[in-house]
Amino acid sequence: MIDLTALDASGGLIDPRIYTDEDVYQLELERVFGRSWLFLAHDSQLPKRGDFVQTYMGEDPVLVVRQRDGSVKAFLNQCRHRGMRICRADEGTAKTFTCSYHGWAYDLEGNLINVPEEGRAYRNEIDKSKWGALKVPRIAVYKGIIFGTWSADVPEIEEYLGEMTYYLDAVLDAYEGGIELVPGPMKWVIDCNWKFAAEQFASDMYHAPISHPSALIAMTDDPAGQAAFSLQAQFSPGRQFAGNGHGSGSFWLPEFGPDFQFGPEASAWQTGKREEVFARIGEERAHKVYGHNTVFPNFSWLGPPRSLRVWHPRGPGQVEVWAWVYIPKTAPEEVKEDYRKMSAFTFSPAGVFETDDGENWTEVQTVLRGWMARANSFNAQMGLGHEERDTHGLPGLSNDVFSETAARGFYQRWKDLMTGRTWAEIAELDAARRAAEEVPSA
Ligand code: FES
Ligand code: FE2
Repeated sequence: MIDLTALDASGGLIDPRIYTDEDVYQLELERVFGRSWLFLAHDSQLPKRGDFVQTYMGEDPVLVVRQRDGSVKAFLNQCRHRGMRICRADEGTAKTFTCSYHGWAYDLEGNLINVPEEGRAYRNEIDKSKWGALKVPRIAVYKGIIFGTWSADVPEIEEYLGEMTYYLDAVLDAYEGGIELVPGPMKWVIDCNWKFAAEQFASDMYHAPISHPSALIAMTDDPAGQAAFSLQAQFSPGRQFAGNGHGSGSFWLPEFGPDFQFGPEASAWQTGKREEVFARIGEERAHKVYGHNTVFPNFSWLGPPRSLRVWHPRGPGQVEVWAWVYIPKTAPEEVKEDYRKMSAFTFSPAGVFETDDGENWTEVQTVLRGWMARANSFNAQMGLGHEERDTHGLPGLSNDVFSETAARGFYQRWKDLMTGRTWAEIAELDAARRAAEEVPSA
């Protein structure tokens, strides 16, 4: 096992073994995924009582269920008899969940309510109240997004998100009625460590002008698109935010509304909504906050491509992506359809941008099979020492969009958790780090 205390996250050095080591991975499940707030579902997936979805917290399958009183609860999707998955459906509506192995049945909260042959087989001696499914102890709903955690001491969700709420709200508050998810996530597996994806969405706009011009050509049918995109990216101002392990970054839009990615319906609809969006989230935020985002550890979204996703870890060398198209709930159907089509075209298993990203990550993972390839640190020092706080109209620590401030923050939070620090200790450390900051601010 590598010495995690020796990792220099704040100095921008990444030990490549954190992407390949099985012991590191097992510890991650417990200390990162077991102790953070994790995205479970969006309200729009569970409109009625008894509606449920199956998802994962790390590698642990959980059922997320709308209760009779309208609240949401979640429990480990593992039967207490022999560990079978209690419910094998991805989603649906239920009154009870019956294990398909020997038939133990659970209610919507995960309480054990029926055991076949209870008299003959158990002589009525089994105490069913002790053998319910393991409940996710804390659930929080932030503006329709349902988070869950196994941790008793992680701070409340608003504190956990911190300044990231400003960036998340840009999506959730922009249009009246908020967002909804197009039913049915797209799911696929990429042969790479989950951190490549989560970190890139937190921090990496730097790859876009180099990795993605071909996608632009495919989209615009314009060979000049390549040059135009590279030039635009290089000369557009933009900022990257970093805080609490989360990250957000965007090139700034010259104009909010029209977007070449979409057909005429969506572009015109957005443009028509401009004043409303400005009134709701502010003109500055509408122009400056829309790009790529990660809430630590594995919940990400993209602005215009309207892709919202969770990176489920599947061993050190594999990630299972679940991606939804998110759309303004109150948009007309033809606009929603336009968003859906363009989101699938750009960021889906076969999306023209998505495939560029997956290609990079799998290639890095393949190279890391070499022992020599794992022997030296990666460089995540871009923009180190040039952070600013509360500048450019953006709250929190930020840097040029071409920087790795958010990547360093992501790995710092990862290290804090992996080395076994309590959340109270992490809060103290964060306060000390902030006090020691020497960054210009507005
Ligand atoms: Fe579920 Fe036996 S494993 S009833
Ligand atoms: Fe990308």
